[in-house]
Amino acid sequence: MIRLGQDPASLAQAAEILRRGDLVAFPTETVYGLGADARNPDAVAKLFALKGRPQFNPLICHVADIDAAQKIGVLNDMALLLAAHFWPGPLTLVVPRRANCPVDLLACAGLPTIALRVPANPTAQALLAQCQFPVAAPSANMSGRISPTHPAHVTISFPDITVIDGGACAVGLESSIVGCFEDTLYWLRAGGIARCDIEAIIGRSLESPPSEREQLSKLAPGRLARHYAPTHQLVISDMSPQRDDALISFGGAETEHTGLHIDLSPTGDLTQAAARLYAALYEMDQALTSPQAKIIIRPLPEDGLGEAIMDRLRRAATPADQ
Ligand code: TXA
Ligand code: MG
Repeated sequence: MIRLGQDPASLAQAAEILRRGDLVAFPTETVYGLGADARNPDAVAKLFALKGRPQFNPLICHVADIDAAQKIGVLNDMALLLAAHFWPGPLTLVVPRRANCPVDLLACAGLPTIALRVPANPTAQALLAQCQFPVAAPSANMSGRISPTHPAHVTISFPDITVIDGGACAVGLESSIVGCFEDTLYWLRAGGIARCDIEAIIGRSLESPPSEREQLSKLAPGRLARHYAPTHQLVISDMSPQRDDALISFGGAETEHTGLHIDLSPTGDLTQAAARLYAALYEMDQALTSPQAKIIIRPLPEDGLGEAIMDRLRRAATPADQ
């Protein structure tokens, strides 16, 4: 394990590690985060693999200030009011993704929304200022374990990860999460800022969490599957593709299909497959010309990230009206 200090040279080194696609744990005022360059699908997939998350839960993107947040998400008047009042600080805002948002789809679990946070911890601030790119970071603990509020806690879960030592976290509780969709504000997670303090600023009550269905029908009308579902039919199967169909395979085995074809990982690496999954679905969906053409994807082994990949694929393969 490498421990870095909080001096500018150490933070420049941490930013460089992130820039080349590796992970760095860093202090925030809430808990330690396990950071990855949010634009880099391989880095984000590595993060999911390391945390052992059973599903691709969407990640919070950490940025230096409101301007940086507005480059990747659409903050309406209510979101801007909250940001102006509570940022930097332990408040995360979930807002629609901006068109051409450079954050990788896997970081947002394929959702049309993005979670944004501007941490107050000066070391986190300095790191994000060095990076100039959004840093996706869940709490730096193995999935299902206690969130780390000290660098030593991070090392228990991840002995090989570089940690910036910022001592104990001041708040010690994850950020509160508010969803800002159209003119409604939803209380998505209780955390470092009290609900009543937020309600005092907006002058009204926060709504209870919307159902997935409600959330998506507002954000992306007519599209109820939870995660990115292609417009073409997606079939998880070993069947032979028709000439017009697109094939997504894994492990380098398929050679016969002469139409559209992507192998998620010719070497059979599930982390690489996870990194390429959403982009492959998106690319195939755009490339298919006939509306009847299908995207056929081979079932992947369900170990490691394969479990999360198959969970997402099953959701995406469910017809939209179910
Ligand atoms: O204080 C914190 O927020 C810490 C530090 C490191 O910043 N981070 C943290 O991340 O707690 P994590 O991954 O443990 O929790 C992220 C939460 C999850 O509950 C996730 O479902 C939610 O944020 N989330 C992220 N993107 C979302 C989205 N688009 N819609 C709804 N919820 C989202
Ligand atoms: Mg967590």
